[in-house]
Amino acid sequence: MKVIEALGLTKSYKGSKLPALNNISLSIDSNQIFTMLGRNGAGKTTFVRICATQLMPSSGRISVLGHDIIKCPDKVRNQISAIPQEGRPLRALTPWDHVYNWLRIRGESSSIAKEKAAQILKKLDLYEARDVPAMNLSGGMKQKVLVAMALAPDAQLLFLDEPTIGLDPVSRRQVWSAIKDWKDQDRTILLTTHYMDEAELLADYIVIIDKGKIIAKGTMNELRKIVPYELRIDVPKVNLDKRLMSLGSVVDSGANFVRIFIYETDAEKIYDRALKMNIQFTVSPITLDDVFVYLVGNKNNGDNIKSENEI
Ligand SMILES: Nc1ncnc2c1ncn2[C@@H]1O[C@H](COP(=O)(O)OP(=O)(O)O)[C@@H](O)[C@H]1O
Ligand SMILES: [Mg+2]
Repeated sequence: MKVIEALGLTKSYKGSKLPALNNISLSIDSNQIFTMLGRNGAGKTTFVRICATQLMPSSGRISVLGHDIIKCPDKVRNQISAIPQEGRPLRALTPWDHVYNWLRIRGESSSIAKEKAAQILKKLDLYEARDVPAMNLSGGMKQKVLVAMALAPDAQLLFLDEPTIGLDPVSRRQVWSAIKDWKDQDRTILLTTHYMDEAELLADYIVIIDKGKIIAKGTMNELRKIVPYELRIDVPKVNLDKRLMSLGSVVDSGANFVRIFIYETDAEKIYDRALKMNIQFTVSPITLDDVFVYLVGNKNNGDNIKSENEI
């Protein structure tokens, strides 16, 4: 079943020259984590807000769980759950108040709401702090309160707009695990992120958007094939040698190493040469990060993939 179907979806905000979403068409199958990846300003939040019936598109069609949400948004509201980007818990209320009351508002009985609130707060390691007013919680814990509110209700479809922003590594893992458990109950998640590791770990299917347009889509394995090389080696800039660079496609990482994409068939020759030249390097398969930089660029917007011998 298609959970979301968008056709020619366009959104132009008043006063903006370029549309935030430019003719987006996509469909999302059920029972998966569908991930929208893009830099800041790519249009992710705009897309999610339209799907979650919070914002009207300028043109195009969109149906969510089989309902045209422009004509009848009310039909889907009780079947979806969302975590808003840059939402904040209310200062005087505790994690328990937020999750329990939200479940009651969504129609759960008091006993079920208590059970579910305790379950999700434990899962996200918020249970001990359940009675602490939000104003006394750390930034990461406040963010987890919002995630708990989104995950607690029985919804068919969950919108998570950059759910792990500002979280420490341990909290990120707790949220990832809670997201996976949610999906394992045969439900669907639309996740947005600009963290490559998060997308790589969670996504069943990925669309990459840039400047309001879809520029690539596929499973992780399909996307990996966009970069026409199989491996990458990272060489410290101080050790860089022209002879080594000529063996692949060189990308300036912006850090203290240079990344060279290479073909698997050339790998042995390259390792030999690097060893002979006494150059230290690390080698790894192409990641989503590489695909993203290849398509979108990092600092200079796509100009940073250089051809052989050019750096
Ligand atoms: N309420 C708004 N009014 C005007 N422009 C907006 C508004 N919200 C977002 N934009 C613009 O739309 C574009 C897409 O933004 P957004 O959907 O928030 O992207 P993302 O979530 O990928 O960072 C950006 O250029 C942003 O500045
Ligand atoms: Mg956003």
